[in-house]
Amino acid sequence: MNRVEGRDKVTGKARYAVEYPVEGAAYAMAVQATVARGEVESIGADEVLAMPGVLAVLSCENAPKLTPVPDGELAVFQSRTVSYRGQLVAAVVAETLDIAREAAARLEIRYRAEPPDLRMTADHPGLYDPGKVNPAFPSDTGRGDPDTAFGQAGVQIDETYTTPAEHNNPMEPHATIASWQGDVLTLHDSNQGVSAVRDTLAKIFDLDASNVRVISPHVGGGFGSKGTPRPNAVLTAMLARAAGRPVKLALTRQQMFALTGYRTPTIQRLRLGADATGRLTSISHDVVEQTSMVREFAEQTATPTRVMYQAPNRRTAHRLLRLNVPSPSWMRAPGETPGMWGLESALDELAVATGVDPVELRILNEPEQDPERDIPFSSRNLVACLREGAARFGWAGRDPAPGVRRRGRKLIGTGVASATYPAYRSPNKAIARRHPDGRFSVEIAAADIGTGARTTLTLIAAEALGTDPSKVSVEIGDSELPKASLAGGSSGTAGWGTAVHRACEALRSSPADEASADTTDEVKSQQKLSRHAFGAQFSEVEVDVDTGEVRVTRMLGVFAAGRIINPKTARSQFIGGMTMGLGMALMEETVLDEEFGDFLNHDLAQYHVPACADVRDIDAVWIEEDDPHLNPMGSKGIGEIGIVGAAASIANAVHHATGIRVRDLPITPPRLL
Ligand code: MOS
Repeated sequence: MNRVEGRDKVTGKARYAVEYPVEGAAYAMAVQATVARGEVESIGADEVLAMPGVLAVLSCENAPKLTPVPDGELAVFQSRTVSYRGQLVAAVVAETLDIAREAAARLEIRYRAEPPDLRMTADHPGLYDPGKVNPAFPSDTGRGDPDTAFGQAGVQIDETYTTPAEHNNPMEPHATIASWQGDVLTLHDSNQGVSAVRDTLAKIFDLDASNVRVISPHVGGGFGSKGTPRPNAVLTAMLARAAGRPVKLALTRQQMFALTGYRTPTIQRLRLGADATGRLTSISHDVVEQTSMVREFAEQTATPTRVMYQAPNRRTAHRLLRLNVPSPSWMRAPGETPGMWGLESALDELAVATGVDPVELRILNEPEQDPERDIPFSSRNLVACLREGAARFGWAGRDPAPGVRRRGRKLIGTGVASATYPAYRSPNKAIARRHPDGRFSVEIAAADIGTGARTTLTLIAAEALGTDPSKVSVEIGDSELPKASLAGGSSGTAGWGTAVHRACEALRSSPADEASADTTDEVKSQQKLSRHAFGAQFSEVEVDVDTGEVRVTRMLGVFAAGRIINPKTARSQFIGGMTMGLGMALMEETVLDEEFGDFLNHDLAQYHVPACADVRDIDAVWIEEDDPHLNPMGSKGIGEIGIVGAAASIANAVHHATGIRVRDLPITPPRLL
């Protein structure tokens, strides 16, 4: 099914957050710290306030007190302390955007600066055990004696893999319009979940949740960076109150790099012990990563290693470092994405060391049940994905020798990697209504961040109602609608869909014109099983022997993700994730300025993401999977698994092409020359 809002999007009728016409709106520009550590001494607002058209300047010198919440990024202007360069220190509201921008540039802020701590290393004395990693996994797990087993293993892989900081770059920036009518706050905000933004802002401004309304029917991308309420929403609400007018604030692309989260850099040591046939006896995955001084975000990098392969002796561990850097946060498949880069690269090294085919090596180490939780998988079809992918990709008869296939100046290679992502589901509420004209409507405060969620929910509702999808309209993206979980953790379709299905099912069997559902009990009482989607990523690359340039000539993803509800938007999700994985493999890297702090490359001219010319032949397919232990639709999430394993499959292909093992992303030409 085509996107139900597709026409609105391509004709410009769909509005994004700051595009709403709001009577009397003023414009805001945020101002960021220019030191990485220290204190704000003075803001120098007087000269700026005298400029014609300037309505207000807000900073730590005059901001109202906010109620603290766990995310320290939301404590906007609550202290003089600066703990990273790029932190919000002031904002200007003016009659026009031009005046606001000019006024913001003229603010003369004085700081008392201190030397910042900016550099993450694996032996930094500040490393600590965070206890839990995102969202609530233990930081360390283990069983058996992995060190001894590794020492005794006939084949040993002991390598360190790194990933750099990477940034979400949604097309729509983080943006908000705030207006107050007395104590009632209305926000048009770009986010991945209106219910959470409403609840958090209500807490911060000490309001009843019913006095806050958040509206976001269309969201121009998020990838996780809009998954938690961001400081722009809090700031805009403060500014609107200070100015006594509705205020529009859109962060600039450059501001987003410090203010909206990024994928933490990781240093991952992988130790695999195996016998000569490739059977794993020991797996250790030790991770070092960073967070900021204002927010503890510990990426769950080693968690996929807890479910992927069988081995009697195993360990995963995360160590975190607080630095004077912007706060990391979610970015598409946090944890699985960097972690499977490390694990699936190491698996490929084990395949080379043992001479076992990389597809067969993975199948050989397939566990019978969840290898750390000792419970069954609800369904696990990794092997089917690997076999199907190998057949479609033409893997059979692959010569494993690296660096021997050449077409002119190009060396050719192929690689494979596994993918996995948990199948989450959160409690949700929904209402379904029958209208006199024979149409139906469904209401839920869900978010469509470009995924096709509105369309998929339309199909789910129509199926449960036993009617044609053209008779159903789905209303989402407004906190006045029944409370919904985030568009995050690839859980939207499963969580929202369960509530939509239940409400429609109830309506169908009822004479009333309205039925509602609350899936809290259903979700909480589900059987304890290990629920994950799986996949196999195959890549072919050509590497220019003179320039070191890598081109991905073919990419195939085969996924087992339960029932696929809308093939058209699902395929788009998968290949979108794979494309993002291509970017991770070859170009994406945000470089921290180790003298001054913040990121050096902070726009799309210097932070490269794949363009159409980089994407040659990417395809995604899926195998039929019937898993009765998930939800009424039988679906697993698909928003994130497409990126998982993609970078490793490309790096493994680069090794096959060139014989060069790149263990530090991205694989830029200097790393191959
Ligand atoms: Mo996604 S990183 O769970 O929004």
